[in-house]
Amino acid sequence: MASYDVIIIGAGPGGYVSAIRCAQLGLKTAIVEGRETLGGTCLNVGCIPSKAMLHATHMLHEAEHNFASMGLKGKSPSVDWKQMLAYKDEVVGQNTGGVEFLMKKNKIDWIKGWASIPEVGKVKVGDDVHDAKNIIVASGSEVATLPGVEIDEKVVVSSTGALELNKIPKKLVVIGAGVIGLELGSVYARLGSEVTVVEYMSAVCPGFDADVQRTFKRLLEKQGLTFIMDAAVQKVDATKSKAKVTYKPKAGDAEEVLDADVVLVATGRKPYVDGLGLEALGVKRTERGQIATDAQWATNVKGIYAIGDVIEGPMLAHKAEDEGMAVAEVVAGKHGHVNYGVIPGVVYTTPEVATVGATEAQLKEQGIKPKVGKFMFMGNARAKAVHQGDGFVKLMVHPETDRLLGAAIIGPAAGDMIHELCVAMEFGASAEDIALTCHAHPTYSEAVREAALACGDGAIHS
Ligand code: NAI
Repeated sequence: MASYDVIIIGAGPGGYVSAIRCAQLGLKTAIVEGRETLGGTCLNVGCIPSKAMLHATHMLHEAEHNFASMGLKGKSPSVDWKQMLAYKDEVVGQNTGGVEFLMKKNKIDWIKGWASIPEVGKVKVGDDVHDAKNIIVASGSEVATLPGVEIDEKVVVSSTGALELNKIPKKLVVIGAGVIGLELGSVYARLGSEVTVVEYMSAVCPGFDADVQRTFKRLLEKQGLTFIMDAAVQKVDATKSKAKVTYKPKAGDAEEVLDADVVLVATGRKPYVDGLGLEALGVKRTERGQIATDAQWATNVKGIYAIGDVIEGPMLAHKAEDEGMAVAEVVAGKHGHVNYGVIPGVVYTTPEVATVGATEAQLKEQGIKPKVGKFMFMGNARAKAVHQGDGFVKLMVHPETDRLLGAAIIGPAAGDMIHELCVAMEFGASAEDIALTCHAHPTYSEAVREAALACGDGAIHS
């Protein structure tokens, strides 16, 4: 039993980053985590392992499709599934181990177990009750399944089970064409699975720029994914080794059935608050079950804060990290700030998709008819040299001030390139500012400058 300035519940990206910032600001800090390893969903069963699998299968795709044309001859590699999973586990281990090292380095106590808050200022883990002047809830999210769909993590899986399958399925049905469905769907398509994605809406990745949605779907179809759009999954009937997915197209009453070896449920996530004891404390929740907070991440109960997937906003690791740092500043008596208008979103498929700020449709809803500058990667020398000429950079700028209001990239390294545009937005830059900035040749980033030029007198290479 110890006494702390702050106890953080949950060691995902939000929680552990917050803990480090709290410690840096001189607060006596502990973090509670019930998993065997630190890092939360992101490091253990989400972002990091999926990126390892995306990388490995992208290499396979390159070997199968592009090596020969570059003069690299020979048998293309065969897949050793066990080894691929071992590689993924090693990557996870390095990252979770890294977080443990950072906790020690910053003298943050890791209290192992699942926390509850029996009363204000107390955190209970097992039989121990610790004192905490401040409590930050960073307990994350869990998969939100559908009625009539039971996840067994073997045949009917969430992203967690999809990263641990015994073997590569012949037929994979993915429910939901959101980020998880498309990232993991493309992993298995590259591994030879027949992948069918059933999506309720008429476009992939709801909320994305319509141009991006169309191009993205077309490129994924080229990679072998099949889409059934405008269709609601009704139920999944599973045996020990097979499943039947029943869906209903929006047009018409007749139900259709798909056979699958594995079904991936990727229909969103919901806040995870089990066992925290929030109801008894009277902590307010939103209609969608999130913990309600004010602009400084404080709940309605004094001394209890919340950040990350468990509160409102996009369920993204980097949004949680930003909130984690900001709330630490608040707890330390300083001012914490997150600019919610400039949070990038990235889908790590090939090509990558990255967005920031408003979409063209959102701006039109706000009564702004933006000037749009678009540049295709086909006009980018570097992208063409590496078989990555698909996609484009699209910038939306204010028609009078030329200020950058939104950006979308579908193409090579989009997830890295988007940050130039995030910085531009943070500094209120105009398309002209970007266009006047020298960009090295030959880089993918030249496409960003070209899109900025296209907002003015015109791109050079189109
Ligand atoms: P999502 O919210 O991105 O997509 C869910 C999709 O399922 C939607 O398109 C929805 O229309 C569809 N859907 C819902 N019910 C359906 C039904 N009955 N039949 C057919 N389709 C249905 O959720 P997803 O992909 O599960 O991801 C969860 C969260 O994790 C998201 O907030 C996402 O941003 C985050 N995430 C982010 C990643 C990244 O940043 N690269 C990677 C993985 C997850």
